[in-house]
Amino acid sequence: MFADPASIGHWPRTGPPGAGPTVKLPTREIAMSAEQSSPTGPDLTQGLSLDALADGQMLLGHVGQDPVLLARRGNEIFAIGANCTHYGGPLAEGLLVDDTVRCPWHHACFSLRTGEALHAPALSPVARWQVEQRDGRIFVRDKQEVRQSRGKSRVGTPPDKIVIVGGGAAGFAAAERLRREEYQGRITMLSNDDAPPVDRPNLSKDYLAGNAPEDWVPLRPDSFYRDSGIELELGANVTGIDVRSREVVLGDGRRLPYDRLLLATGAEPVRLSLPGADLPHVRTLRSLADCRAIIERAKTSRRAVVLGASFIGLEVAASLRTRQIEVHVVAPEKRPMERILGPQMGDFVRALHEEHGVIFHLEDTASAIDGKTVRLKSGGTLTVDLVVAGIGVRPRLELAEKAGLALDRGVVVGHYLETSVPGIYAAGDIARWPDLHSGERIRVEHWVVAERQGQTAALAMLGSREPFAAVPFFWSQHYDVPINYVGHAEKWDDLAIDGDIMSRNCLLRYRRNGRVLAVASIYRDIESLQAEVMMEQKVAAAA
Ligand SMILES: Cc1cc2nc3c(=O)[nH]c(=O)nc-3n(C[C@H](O)[C@H](O)[C@H](O)COP(=O)(O)OP(=O)(O)OC[C@H]3O[C@@H](n4cnc5c(N)ncnc54)[C@H](O)[C@@H]3O)c2cc1C
Ligand code: FES
Repeated sequence: MFADPASIGHWPRTGPPGAGPTVKLPTREIAMSAEQSSPTGPDLTQGLSLDALADGQMLLGHVGQDPVLLARRGNEIFAIGANCTHYGGPLAEGLLVDDTVRCPWHHACFSLRTGEALHAPALSPVARWQVEQRDGRIFVRDKQEVRQSRGKSRVGTPPDKIVIVGGGAAGFAAAERLRREEYQGRITMLSNDDAPPVDRPNLSKDYLAGNAPEDWVPLRPDSFYRDSGIELELGANVTGIDVRSREVVLGDGRRLPYDRLLLATGAEPVRLSLPGADLPHVRTLRSLADCRAIIERAKTSRRAVVLGASFIGLEVAASLRTRQIEVHVVAPEKRPMERILGPQMGDFVRALHEEHGVIFHLEDTASAIDGKTVRLKSGGTLTVDLVVAGIGVRPRLELAEKAGLALDRGVVVGHYLETSVPGIYAAGDIARWPDLHSGERIRVEHWVVAERQGQTAALAMLGSREPFAAVPFFWSQHYDVPINYVGHAEKWDDLAIDGDIMSRNCLLRYRRNGRVLAVASIYRDIESLQAEVMMEQKVAAAA
């Protein structure tokens, strides 16, 4: 039951006045619409007065059919592709920081000089063009090769064999980065999933809603692994690590030697423990297979119950509503997302979902499930065809634990993401790292953090001494409302709200002892990016 193709992904960013007609679309759709629609802005091959582009300014134009971003830094002018290679975000609406531009949607960062994707979630470069200045005018000339910069100084000789356990965000980003760094050694990526690395956030959003076809889900086509010499083994369950002989042990008895090992085993959904939890229409969502199973069931479902009002639970609720299924959300808390975003945002999220027809049963839990009903602790009964449990995740720590790595509610890593055992690194949902911004050891479950950690771990395995210094970032999407969050605030003593949450134009600052720990926002993309940069600058100043 896919949505009408004419409405694919068309959740317009109906933000505050002046927010522009930007539409949040998956990458390939942007590419398609860019091809189909006529180019915007001036034809940059015809020349543009230098005065039309002030220092620090960006301008959207085009070269032929290609949308091009023109940016000025002092006397230097840069021309790069105008759409982010993650989901096609409009870079001209992003933030210039030194000789880089940051995407307004999910904070990817591109080099203006080389086009390279410097910070995930974008992993592919944007195109770049030669720029000529003549007689006070700017002319954009030929497209140029994208230059990939190599990481900074390294110590020691690179390892011969790198093994990555995990084919998710962190594992994939690490493998990709290793090859981008021109690492010539052997890379083996072992995943006990049947699917190659996928765009996991999409599994609760566009893909589940029926707004994105399945071929948008893989992070890369199969040919990528072959062409890049990355040995991707799917269905490969790693059952142990022999720390002494430096080998990983697979479920089928094979032993694979490594010189450097990256553990990126992610997290798994917490399973329900109540009668009926094992029934076939009761599902959790982590993998593509999970998502396919929910979609299959959704095709014949009229009513669904989502257990848990977490980010994933509520994104699932929104996607099922898009499929016209009646959705009930059952959760023990008083307000959804209050613990992470505060009461005001919690009320907004609830109202937003209610506006779309979701029925909440808060301060309640399920006590039993059978073929047709979910019984509630409060005594009620809901008739149901599909149940999705989104009641949290648990980091997969078994391998690390058995291998004797130091644990503290996650795998303990240092600034370079190395664990307590030299040569073994950890990244993503399992890693607890010394966060330079909060000054605390934290573990988060964010897509962008996992990818960026994978990249840092890749460099570290090659001998680089670049610490993981990124400020945590995550986004969540509910219908046409994106929520962006920068920083990390487990507790705060002051919550300052700028703008109006209910009219979807707001920035929330979570402070403790007067210090801003985190910023959540709706349609305040530039301020969200500025907050990220300020947090990064504080980290750099303190280093
Ligand atoms: C449906 C959904 C939507 C999400 N949406 C968002 C979002 O909008 N924004 C956001 O910031 N975050 C989101 N997240 C969270 C984000 O996806 C995770 O934080 C991220 O995937 C963590 O990356 P990872 O590499 O640590 O783990 P994963 O991506 O989970 O990858 C772990 C990999 O390890 C493999 N593995 C585990 N154990 C073994 C073993 N013993 N042997 C071999 N392989 C093994 C698994 O098969 C998997 O391939 C979402 C998560 C889900 C499930
Ligand atoms: S669209 Fe640019 S970071 Fe996602």
